[in-house]
Amino acid sequence: MEIIRTVSELRAWSRAAHKEDKIVGLVPTMGALHAGHASLIRAARSRCDCVAVSIFVNPTQFGPNEDYARYPRTFDADCALAESGGADIIFAPGVEELYPDCAATFVEVEGIGDRLDGESRPGHFRGVATVVAKLFIAAEPDLAFFGQKDAAQVAVLRRMTTDLRLATEIVVCPIVREPDGLALSSRNVYLTPAQRARALALSRAVGMVESLVGHGQRNAPILIEAARAVFGAEPDIRVDYIAVVDWSTLQPVETAAPGTLFAVAAWVGETRLIDNTILP
Ligand code: PAJ
Repeated sequence: MEIIRTVSELRAWSRAAHKEDKIVGLVPTMGALHAGHASLIRAARSRCDCVAVSIFVNPTQFGPNEDYARYPRTFDADCALAESGGADIIFAPGVEELYPDCAATFVEVEGIGDRLDGESRPGHFRGVATVVAKLFIAAEPDLAFFGQKDAAQVAVLRRMTTDLRLATEIVVCPIVREPDGLALSSRNVYLTPAQRARALALSRAVGMVESLVGHGQRNAPILIEAARAVFGAEPDIRVDYIAVVDWSTLQPVETAAPGTLFAVAAWVGETRLIDNTILP
C-alpha cells in the first residue's frame, strides 16, 4: 500500500486507474480509524477496483474553540487498518497541500449547511464541503463512501455533488456500533468510563424512537419528547439537538415518513456526540 502526499500524485494515480477502465473508490476520513471506518473501506473494496483512503484532519471544519489541536492522530495504526481493509493507497496531505497560502475558495451549501450540526457548529459544513470538493476534484472517484453516522454531512455532500454536477456517486454505509449500542466515533476516546456509560443515552434515545415508530407513532413532537425523556434522567449530559427532519433538506417534519431522519447530538462532559436512525 502506497502513501501519497500530494494532489498531483493522487490525480495521476486515479487517471492511470481510469485509463484501464478501473472503478475508483475514495473513503475520506480524518484518521483515528476504527471499525466504522473499516466498514467503509471494506465496502469500497467490494465495489471498486482501486481504493484510496484519505487521512486529513481538516482544520476548516473545526470551530475556534473545538478540538482540532487535540483530535486523535494515530497515523501508523491507521495505515495498518486501511491496508488490512484492502486500501490500495493512503492520501495523507499536509495542511499546505490542500490549503495553499491564504486559500480563499470555499464551498457553502446554503440552507442545509446551517442545519443540525451546522447550526451548533457554525462553519463546520462549509469546511466539510470544501475539503470533500477538493478531494473529489483531485481523486475523481467514481464512488465515495460515507457513514450514515454523520447523516447531516451526507445530506450536505449529496446536495453539493448534485449542485456542482460532480461525477462521483455517494455511497452511504450503516452505523457501526459497540455491542452495547454506542456508535463508534474517533471522539469516544475522550470519554471517561463514567461518561462512556452515560453516552449510551444517545443510542437509547435512538432505540426508543425506533420502537415507538415500530408501534405506529409518527408524530414528530411526541417522538422528540420521548427521546428527551431518555436524556432527562442522565447527569452530565446536555442535549444539543433532537430532530426529526427530511433527510435531504434537513428541514423539520411534523410527521415521520419512511426515510425521515431522526437525529440527536449531545454533550457528554466536554465531548459532543451524535447518533441517528433513518425511520422505516
Ligand atoms: P471522520 O469523522 O473520520 O469519518 C470518516 C467517515 O467515517 C465518515 O463518512 C463517517 O460518517 C464515517 N464513520 C464514522 N463513524 C462511523 C460509524 N460508527 N459507523 C459507520 N461509519 C462511520 O467525517 C469525517 O471524518 C470528515 O468530516 C470528512 C468527511 C473526512 C471530511 O473531513
